[in-house]
Amino acid sequence: MRYGHFDDERREYVISRPDTPLPWINYLGSEDYFGIISNTAGGYSFYRDARLRRLTRYRYNNAPLDLGGRYLYLRDDETGEYWSPSWQPTVGELDEYECRHGMGYTTIASSRAGIRVDTRFFVPPGETLEIWHARISNGRPVPAQVSLFGTIEFCLWDAQDDATNFQRNYSIGEVEVEDGVIYHKTEYRERRDHFAFFACSERSAGFDTSRDAFLGPYRGWDRPIAVERGAISGSIAHGWQPIGAHQAKLDLAPGETREVIFMLGYAENPTDAKFDPPGSQTIDKRHVRPLIARQLEPGAADAAFTALGRRWDEWLEALQVETGNEHLDRMVNVWNAYQCMVTFNLSRSASLYESGIGRGMGFRDSTQDLLGFVHMVPVRARERILDVAATQLPTGGAYHQFQPLTKRGNNAVGSGFNDDPAWLVLAVAAYLKETGDLGILDAPVPYDNAPGTERPLDDHLRRAIDYTLDRLGPHGLPLIGRADWNDCLNLNCFSDTPGESFQTTQNREGGVAESVFIAGLFVLAANELAAIAEHRGGAPEAGRLRAAATDMVAAVDAHGWDGEWFRRAYDFFGEPIGSAANDEGQIFIEPQGICIMAGIGLDDGRAGRALTAVRERLATPHGIVLQQPAFSDYQLRLGEISSYPPGYKENGGIFCHTNPWLMIAEAMAGNPDGALDYYLRINPSAREEISEIHRCEPYVYAQMIAGRDAPTHGEAKNSWLTGTAAWNFVAATQWIVGIRAELDGLRIDPRLPAGWGEIRATRRFRGATYRIVVREAVAGVARGGRVTRLVVNGSAIDGNLAPLPSEPGTDIEVEALIGAPVEMAS
Ligand code: BGC
Ligand code: NOJ
Repeated sequence: MRYGHFDDERREYVISRPDTPLPWINYLGSEDYFGIISNTAGGYSFYRDARLRRLTRYRYNNAPLDLGGRYLYLRDDETGEYWSPSWQPTVGELDEYECRHGMGYTTIASSRAGIRVDTRFFVPPGETLEIWHARISNGRPVPAQVSLFGTIEFCLWDAQDDATNFQRNYSIGEVEVEDGVIYHKTEYRERRDHFAFFACSERSAGFDTSRDAFLGPYRGWDRPIAVERGAISGSIAHGWQPIGAHQAKLDLAPGETREVIFMLGYAENPTDAKFDPPGSQTIDKRHVRPLIARQLEPGAADAAFTALGRRWDEWLEALQVETGNEHLDRMVNVWNAYQCMVTFNLSRSASLYESGIGRGMGFRDSTQDLLGFVHMVPVRARERILDVAATQLPTGGAYHQFQPLTKRGNNAVGSGFNDDPAWLVLAVAAYLKETGDLGILDAPVPYDNAPGTERPLDDHLRRAIDYTLDRLGPHGLPLIGRADWNDCLNLNCFSDTPGESFQTTQNREGGVAESVFIAGLFVLAANELAAIAEHRGGAPEAGRLRAAATDMVAAVDAHGWDGEWFRRAYDFFGEPIGSAANDEGQIFIEPQGICIMAGIGLDDGRAGRALTAVRERLATPHGIVLQQPAFSDYQLRLGEISSYPPGYKENGGIFCHTNPWLMIAEAMAGNPDGALDYYLRINPSAREEISEIHRCEPYVYAQMIAGRDAPTHGEAKNSWLTGTAAWNFVAATQWIVGIRAELDGLRIDPRLPAGWGEIRATRRFRGATYRIVVREAVAGVARGGRVTRLVVNGSAIDGNLAPLPSEPGTDIEVEALIGAPVEMAS
């Protein structure tokens, strides 16, 4: 069952009924000012940091789930009837409803009793504010007198404190109202130099700033007394709950449409020029007044919206594909790329599942996210790499998390997740292949942000590699530390205290648990770094890295292979995990993916056997589960993984992040049909038809889909902020469509699944635009065949590497021929 449809032309998902199984959200903003918005206008806004600079309140885990938002009310002033054009919070009948989530904007349109309200919410590029651009139309044959109310509830900045410290907070709320604009200035009197403003283009509008006055005692957002009465009271909040509410009264002729803009923004003043006049407690508004006036000028909102569209055109044009598979094309060209940008911006901070007050930025999360956005915003990718590397520890290890505002490592979470550093190598390799900017390797970067410790980035990468080599266990495999990619495989932890964090608790002394996953990851990273060294003419370093990779492969051969698949780990006592010898957790997905991606077992049949085992034991119609059999009880020697009920999260859930590794492995093993099959099982668009089972948004990936052991098998959770976005993008674009940036050119190496004919792609790369068409040299060879010849701007070359552009700004036509007899000398 569907709750809407894709409008591919407009790059929108159109939701046609408000009662989606869960709030289906979207994101506003892509620079400093952000918001989340649901299909019923729930959500909140913040400046840079969802915890420390929260502008508006949102009540997580409420009933209904999604409470607090950008709520409008339409009141028919003749009858007194009123409703929310976004359905929530009044949840009344609507004659029509449609929500369109697009690239950085959402529109919600509805009508009732002949009055239509169509509101577009977005953040203008370059601004720290959001616009709600409402168009109110009178579809009646007679004039209509209506009021439109626009409301928000201010958060007192620190979202954590705001939700807990009521003995203080109920006394500190302050606002100012000047010229119809509401200013929220809690704590501005003391150490804050920032404030929020909420304005309305209808200057005649009245306002309220006290929640109690607007809602009325014992009333909720579903029936504000001010709306019921049709008259706002001009209240000024003192403490309690400051809000912003405007009322615009509109007389509409039959057929007339009026526009009303509400604007919520964030502004700062210099600390020594906060007040006007100096010495007063009144906000100095000399900077913000003209800005507000400018944004409310006729046409300004439309112009800003057009600019937003152009920005997304530019980002998305970096890669566009035409494979003929609508689910792949739609996700790659629009939604998956969009989700990658959102994970870049927000990491794991703010979604329906991430409260904005929880995790900082993850070291491995940020480095993997980069794989999905580096082609769109390479300059910002460079910054991100340098920021992440600056949190690296002198040992080569990493803080597991760092704080977005300070960019410092998070001491509370600490380090010791032994996979972390290797991901930095993969991120840098991806960046170098994309940009060719070898200079980044010489950029001085400190360790642990300590001035004076700057070393070239290159040194950081070397230490990342050595970090693993310095920590090998009894089987010659990397020690796992606290955990590896799987945060919940806590083999040295032995936690028996309720509520204790598995991530930070003191590990048992002498832990020698080892990870086959890190071994595979290491081989991948060491070979990437070796290729970079070779490219720079550093043969000795390349030799050292290749040898280290070879030794690691030997360790996996000796101790990582279980007979039919790759083992997962060795526990604290040296016993294998992910082995047929275990009762539960016999086979895990992660080592099958990463080891094959690292090339292990590809030439001796083991990869094929591991892939068969995955297909037989882990694959379900809803995706590949993380491990089987799921753990039926809590096991001290395993940690958090066994804390989850079977079928959820790491305990046998379909942890979507890992699925693309198997897609890549299938493609590398020469089975494109298998790759596409796995791809489509978790592709949100391909699951749209089962939205009542999947329940999350059909346009973005979720971290998890409940596994076969769960009674809710097929139900997704934790959509949006997940490494799933980047890895599916990599699998689809680099291994199914097969276009990969490399140091020396653009590799065109698709593995075409059965039934695919010609495919086309446009790829911006090193300043040029490659227009690529892949076709069979001889009809019928496509299945499983590889590209063997390219015709680049009319000249044929053997192989499948399109050379770098000779000059930027050019268009390069590439015809890639599958199965062409190799005969040309290059
Ligand atoms: C989740 C993991 C997550 C970890 C750290 C666990 O409860 O299952 O997916 O990485 O917490 O936040
Ligand atoms: C979510 C975390 O953000 C990610 O870093 C981790 O790899 C997965 N959970 C698996 O545990």
